[in-house]
Amino acid sequence: MQPQIFSFLFLFFIGFASAGYLQNPDFESQPKSLTENTSSPFVALNENNTIPGWTFQGTVQYVTAGQTIALPDNGHAIQLGQDGKINQTFTADADYTNYILTFTLAPGGQNCSANADVLVSGPDSQGIFSFKQHYGKEAWQSYGQHLGLGGQQEPINLVIESRGVESDDNSTCWPVIDSLLIKTVGTLVQGKDNLLLNGGFEFGPEFLSKSTEGILLDSALSPVLSPLRQWAVIGTIKYIDSNHFFVPHGNAAVEIVSGVSAGIQTDVTLTTGSAYSLEFTLGDANNACEGDFIVEVRAGSVVQNFTVQSNGTGSAQKSSMKFEAGSRATRISFFSYTSSQTKDGTFCGPVVDEVVLLSSNGLRLAIKPNILISLLFLILIFW
Ligand SMILES: *[C@@H]1O[C@H](CO)[C@@H](O)[C@H](O)[C@H]1NC(C)=O
Ligand SMILES: *[C@@H]1O[C@H](CO)[C@@H](O)[C@H](O)[C@H]1NC(C)=O
Ligand SMILES: *[C@@H]1O[C@H](CO)[C@@H](O)[C@H](O)[C@H]1NC(C)=O
Ligand SMILES: *[C@@H]1O[C@H](CO)[C@@H](O)[C@H](O)[C@H]1NC(C)=O
Ligand SMILES: *[C@@H]1O[C@H](CO)[C@@H](O)[C@H](O)[C@H]1NC(C)=O
Ligand SMILES: *[C@@H]1O[C@H](CO)[C@@H](O)[C@H](O)[C@H]1NC(C)=O
Ligand SMILES: *[C@@H]1O[C@H](CO)[C@@H](O)[C@H](O)[C@H]1NC(C)=O
Repeated sequence: MQPQIFSFLFLFFIGFASAGYLQNPDFESQPKSLTENTSSPFVALNENNTIPGWTFQGTVQYVTAGQTIALPDNGHAIQLGQDGKINQTFTADADYTNYILTFTLAPGGQNCSANADVLVSGPDSQGIFSFKQHYGKEAWQSYGQHLGLGGQQEPINLVIESRGVESDDNSTCWPVIDSLLIKTVGTLVQGKDNLLLNGGFEFGPEFLSKSTEGILLDSALSPVLSPLRQWAVIGTIKYIDSNHFFVPHGNAAVEIVSGVSAGIQTDVTLTTGSAYSLEFTLGDANNACEGDFIVEVRAGSVVQNFTVQSNGTGSAQKSSMKFEAGSRATRISFFSYTSSQTKDGTFCGPVVDEVVLLSSNGLRLAIKPNILISLLFLILIFW
């Protein structure tokens, strides 16, 4: 009986959906009244143009992929120049759920002295992105951003705007935006075989089906506002999918790519003085990332280093740690102590997956106090 109730609750709370929230999410419907220019991949939009599905302001150009600019699936994109801004309002579902955005950023030009930043805002959070470092083979990169919580069919306004750089000279490259995707993730409910939520990293931004590049997640210090649900991100990590990388378990895992002191962490409330074990899998993503990676794993007051010896061909090694919960929330974290690059200069690193936290005396113990209190409460009511 109980497992069925569990699965039911699980299915009920984890609303899964994607696609269909945004109109013209990849800018393939071309702007109205566009004066095409065969000699340039960038065409400035003016007051007579409209981008289907979107509103724009400031300097905005319609971009066509070609020799000077690469885009996912080729096609078209939008460049946000000086004070450039686009926005679109979509309708939230009836039930409250988290909205997570995947989008692609490309540097809009060559030989830039500086890349202008891009600010992505939703109802509850905003993130600043810029093209600082290459973490893949393509000229463009995809990023994930938590937009916020929405429900009751309320409007959610997604705004993407450029942020000028200080040395605003002619060699500034303005950001090019493409391939937006929205995914919803409902409230996660503790499963019966793991005290951690999203321990397998299955709940995060949606992958672009044809991209072999994964999705970059920049620092998100609050697990509530993180695109990797329940986990804070420090530094830059790459969210990788099993269709294009070696992933030890399920469909997704985390690769820590920005080197020393980058990683992920979460806090969990446990029973003070009780014994727990933390199991996890470390490895490499089969992306030619070779070397000995040191990963520092923390579970409460126990901190230990683990070394992943990687040939860059996909490996997974299970490890575990035992610890006793203190009186405060217990921190679980994975930090990389190695900065790695593939032979062609791409930044890369160790993979973390399938993090499972269990009570050493059987998982049930952790939930028992609540059940006892509820029972006592019921008894008192009926007394
Ligand atoms: C077409 O692009 C070229 C090169 O960027 C530019 O010099 C020219 O002014 C553009 N023509 C129009 C009609 O916008
Ligand atoms: C917009 O359209 C109007 C009317 O056709 C025209 O007078 C004006 O020059 C156009 N503006 C631009 C920037 O092309
Ligand atoms: C863009 O935002 C403005 C308010 O800031 C709103 O009036 C407009 O409808 C939005 N555009 C779209 C396409 O949702
Ligand atoms: C960028 O620099 C390279 C090498 O210096 C040069 O060949 C190329 O024309 C430059 N591109 C632009 C757009 O200035
Ligand atoms: C930018 O380009 C314009 C026109 O090409 C030129 O007049 C101006 O001096 C340039 N500015 C800088 C800071 O290079
Ligand atoms: C893990 O290794 C790093 C780098 O060698 C070191 O700075 C850190 O103190 C080590 N942590 C533990 C818990 O040994
Ligand atoms: C790495 O390659 C060596 C030599 O080919 C092999 O002996 C070793 O088992 C490999 N290690 C992993 C983790 O795949």
